[in-house]
Amino acid sequence: MSLRIRNFEEYTQVYKKSVDQPEEFWAEIAENFKWQKKWDKVLDWDFRKADTKWFSNAKLNITENCIDRHLEKLGDQPAIIWEPNDPEEHYRRITYKELHAKVSQVGTMLKNNGVKKGDRVCIYMPMVPELAFAVLACARIGAIHSVVFGGFSAQSIADRIQDAQCEVVITADGGFRGTKDVPLKNVIDDALVQCPSVGRVIVLTRSRTPVSMIKGRDCWWEDEIKKVETMGNPECVAEPMDAEDELFILYTSGSTGKPKGVVHTCGGYMVCTGYTFANVFQYEPGEVFFCTADIGWITGHSYLMYGALLQGATTLMFEGVPTWPDAGRFWEIVDKYKVNILYTAPTAIRSLMGFGDEPLKGKDLSSLTKLGSVGEPINEEAWNWFNEKIGKGKCPIVDTWWQTETGGIMISPLAGITPTKPGHATLPLPGIQPCLVDENGLEIEGNGVSGNLCIKFPWPGIIRTTYGDHERCRTTYFSTYDNKYFTGDGCSRDEDGYYRITGRVDDVINVSGHRIGTAEVENAINMHADVIESAVVGYPHDIKGQGIYAYVILGSSLHDHDLTRRDILQTVTRIIGAIAKPDKIQFVSGLPKTRSGKIMRRILRKVAEGETENLGDTTTLLDPAVVDEIKAGAL
Ligand code: WTA
Repeated sequence: MSLRIRNFEEYTQVYKKSVDQPEEFWAEIAENFKWQKKWDKVLDWDFRKADTKWFSNAKLNITENCIDRHLEKLGDQPAIIWEPNDPEEHYRRITYKELHAKVSQVGTMLKNNGVKKGDRVCIYMPMVPELAFAVLACARIGAIHSVVFGGFSAQSIADRIQDAQCEVVITADGGFRGTKDVPLKNVIDDALVQCPSVGRVIVLTRSRTPVSMIKGRDCWWEDEIKKVETMGNPECVAEPMDAEDELFILYTSGSTGKPKGVVHTCGGYMVCTGYTFANVFQYEPGEVFFCTADIGWITGHSYLMYGALLQGATTLMFEGVPTWPDAGRFWEIVDKYKVNILYTAPTAIRSLMGFGDEPLKGKDLSSLTKLGSVGEPINEEAWNWFNEKIGKGKCPIVDTWWQTETGGIMISPLAGITPTKPGHATLPLPGIQPCLVDENGLEIEGNGVSGNLCIKFPWPGIIRTTYGDHERCRTTYFSTYDNKYFTGDGCSRDEDGYYRITGRVDDVINVSGHRIGTAEVENAINMHADVIESAVVGYPHDIKGQGIYAYVILGSSLHDHDLTRRDILQTVTRIIGAIAKPDKIQFVSGLPKTRSGKIMRRILRKVAEGETENLGDTTTLLDPAVVDEIKAGAL
């Protein structure tokens, strides 16, 4: 079976086959990739144990598929185009041949520094090509990469490094984002105070801010690369990996506890991202694909890098932010590189929409053929603006629903093939079997219904485990509903069978497309010396989709509230990172609790949403009077 579906009729046929004969279907898709050895068995699974294995005993290396496989035909085509933060700085174009040489070099550098197959490498870098080289070099030699987004604090990095027991960290002196110079190495130094497992830190030069280099532990990327050159740049052989060997860990927030390390494996993830990239974006050879996500998030992993490279695409990597030097930056980039496919997030669309038409003036967007959205529900207004102002009404928009845990896109139109509807992720990709369930776990059949979104059959990109704690994986995703993977999302299915994701049904807030657990923010707030207790909920936010609303009980009222508020924000920034800072903090004298001590978040959510009337039954509360106080003080 060829990888790519060409029309809607074919989609319907392929979808049917993928449900009737899922193993045959995925095996045929997998034939489109390069395997050093084929599998003995396509699929082994038991959702009740959270166990899934795809392509057992097959051997492959994902970088051979991302790079080597293309060298003959596409060797001189750009694999990566890099646009720096500062538009005055020169851009970079890295061909597939050059990418091959770079990844080989960095792979050898890692080996020289003691990195072996199975070792965990933490990567905390700015959005520069060396970040992609580092990630791919890990995959090349069989090391497990754990990329941490540059916006996370030292404490968050330390938690992630300790959880995965990383041996090596790759970072940079600093990174540029808009007018900011982010001191990455300093943050790493703070993190490593708590991380005895790390024996080596490799530091790329980017901003050349002063950094401390610790003897015996820290070394410069450039010096280490020189050593590889002195060795004569030996070819770094692609390590044969078992299909189920771990490829990477990516941490993501859940409703309880610390972020969990979502584990993806080599074979299934490759098949999933390569297949979905080709079909959702209907990628044509030579097209320039611009994914605006950071590599620190799953979208950057699966589509900016792996999915795009698996299909021999030209992928554009942007170091900066959409609003600097002005709000026309994305459009300038589209114009400059004649971008064909733009894949971005609703939050970016809403924020740019707010600047009106001015930033669009003089920008030629006629190269665009397809648009994509990911990370949160896209409201109709943003969808329409994207369609009219950016796509000029001629570019299909793919509203792609998926998660860190799913590895690749699950529900989405195929660009130009599936008829779209604003705000609807539309139909499942072949191989994906979604269902809606009610609170009793019963499947809701038919159309014009809504419920909790589950997936009832495995697909190759499914989460394999949460690093170091398989039981947590089982309880989080596979125990809520028997024999189903539970997504944590609410969803409706309309009269046409189209899926529309309505948002999280658990205690996870989606802020600008970033998942933040309310419990995590509460823990951070509670670390502030003056705080006795707190409760955090999400509320609708015009730009971010959801904002963070914190109700806080203070121990002493001696301090100035404005100062305390700022101290709390600083505490959250220290513990998690600036992305988790509450937008609103309301000081209260008590929280609405049931007699058993459970906080009634429903009430807090309503107040945060601006609702003061229909708060539902409050008679079971220990002290119903606190509700009046909370309503009166609502921000
Ligand atoms: C949300 C991002 C509506 C959803 C790839 C999901 C979406 C969470 C969409 C995963 C969409 C993602 N429409 N909601 N098209 N895409 N979401 O792990 O709540 O960062 O559970 O993965 O984002 O976020 P994550």
